[in-house]
Amino acid sequence: MNKNLIEEFKEKKVKIGNLEISPPTFLAPIADISDSIFRQIVKEFGGVGCVFSEMISSDALTRGCEKTALMLNFKHTEKPIFFQIVGKNPLRMAMAAKMLEDLGADGIDINMGCPSKNITKSGGGSALLTDLKKAEEIIKKVRKALSIPFTIKIRAGWNENSLVYNEIGKIAENEGVDAMFFHGRTKKQMYSGSVHYEWIADLKSRVKIPVIGNGDIVDGESLIKMLETKCDGVMIARAAIKKPWIFKEILDGKEVEVKTLLNIIEKQFKQLQEVYPENLAKHKMKLFLSWYSRSLPHGKKIRLQLNDAKTSSAVFDVFLRYKEEV
Ligand SMILES: Cc1cc2nc3c(=O)[nH]c(=O)nc-3n(C[C@H](O)[C@H](O)[C@H](O)COP(=O)(O)O)c2cc1C
Repeated sequence: MNKNLIEEFKEKKVKIGNLEISPPTFLAPIADISDSIFRQIVKEFGGVGCVFSEMISSDALTRGCEKTALMLNFKHTEKPIFFQIVGKNPLRMAMAAKMLEDLGADGIDINMGCPSKNITKSGGGSALLTDLKKAEEIIKKVRKALSIPFTIKIRAGWNENSLVYNEIGKIAENEGVDAMFFHGRTKKQMYSGSVHYEWIADLKSRVKIPVIGNGDIVDGESLIKMLETKCDGVMIARAAIKKPWIFKEILDGKEVEVKTLLNIIEKQFKQLQEVYPENLAKHKMKLFLSWYSRSLPHGKKIRLQLNDAKTSSAVFDVFLRYKEEV
């Protein structure tokens, strides 16, 4: 394992517009997960240069949806923070971007990769990979509306026969996008197969703006594979939900004790119950516990009990019983 690559990487920074981010590591946008409470947990462990919000619907935001308002909270300790927007209407996307700039975002990102049917059926997320004219129009309008750094997050294309990452790269560069986040899979792949490092290396070799590599980073070895693409930074999603200390772990090889994680979960769950309405709190607690259980000993036991938990207090009880046992 080429550990020197990691040692060098730790000292690097990436310049996105006027922002210098060091180390060049990013917590990904993760729907229902990367809220303010979770971002603070990841920040406290260290090793992360910049955090992203979960995706925010530009339609819902500009129409004043209450649930969306709950996604806008952030603390100064989370900065620098990028807010990600999703949608297909260029005017609404520009309006949403400006609203978030006014709220104090350090950067705005456009979601051009989400493969979920809920998003693509209305033309947003990875559906934009099939309509580059629309993608370009959105990019132009949003760039014009903003004075802060502006990025896009893409997949490679709809499927292997329609790879468009280089075309989008050209559009992004011409239209003043400050960096690209690239999950090296197609929409059709969803999360299957492996990430295509060669696509990320290819894009990086063709554009001058920074390219941040994303996909399948879970440890030092997979970090090195990504760094070998010569990408300017890395973004992590799933491994961070299982281990919020993943950034510290891959940079410094620092593992975290189970006890520390259990104490964090307890604090997080109390906050979730305080901040969110009951149903949302219950949904989030179930989701988190199910992800965390994958890095906890005998985690399957937790997942089996979660099915029957009908309230946030019942989910909390499942957790507390487990905590007492270990
Ligand atoms: C539960 C879940 C929710 C996600 N939500 C978003 C999102 O809101 N916006 C986005 O651009 N990508 C989203 N993604 C994709 C991740 O940001 C990331 O691109 C992908 O998981 C690959 O990175 P990884 O291998 O480190 O997980 C989500 C992924 C997961 C698993």
